[in-house]
Amino acid sequence: MQAKGKVIAVTGAGSGIGRELALLLLTKGAKVAGVDVNAAALARTAALAGNRATEFAEFVTDITDRSAVEALPGQVIARFGTVDGIINNAGIIQPFLRLKDLDYGTIERVLNVNLLGTLFVTKAFFALPAATARGAHRQPVEHGRLCSRPRPDHLWGRQSRREAVVRRSWG
Ligand SMILES: NC(=O)c1ccc[n+]([C@@H]2O[C@H](COP(=O)([O-])OP(=O)(O)OC[C@H]3O[C@@H](n4cnc5c(N)ncnc54)[C@H](O)[C@@H]3O)[C@@H](O)[C@H]2O)c1
Repeated sequence: MQAKGKVIAVTGAGSGIGRELALLLLTKGAKVAGVDVNAAALARTAALAGNRATEFAEFVTDITDRSAVEALPGQVIARFGTVDGIINNAGIIQPFLRLKDLDYGTIERVLNVNLLGTLFVTKAFFALPAATARGAHRQPVEHGRLCSRPRPDHLWGRQSRREAVVRRSWG
């Protein structure tokens, strides 16, 4: 699928990989619904979009808030008329501790965002009728992982990672 003319929702578009994915999709001619819990960060992504900023819409949403997430597809369609795909990128990492040293509050926070939040987003967009969205939203792109392991390449490679995600999905 080519990115040009497509409407893609990107969670975690306020920073890091999500921001880079959003900006790359915009340069490829896509419209991007940027979703993030951090309003200021999302506004910064919009500012970085430059002359493509009109094709970027900000949706300040906590993906662990199920009712807010359920309202999201309708808001994206109200703004762009349709939705073609979602990139489940938003996520948090736990401190790099041994399991025995991780407290349950931290474990639950990570599971709520990375597992349930991702599930809420995917399910909300999958609920759209094919006539409303163009169908491709039923193939969500996941690129985070539930738990991160400490490896040096966690600190590098954002550029190649975002290129790989977009190339694999939208040409
Ligand atoms: N950076 C890496 O090397 C690396 C490695 C493995 C996995 N990942 C995963 O890739 C994804 C992006 O990583 P990153 O380094 O760009 O992270 P980041 O922290 O720079 O960006 C994550 C974004 O998600 C947003 N977010 C967090 N919780 C949210 C919530 N509840 N609702 C909505 N938005 C929320 C944050 O505000 C932030 O803007 C994450 O899921 C991360 O776990 C990253």
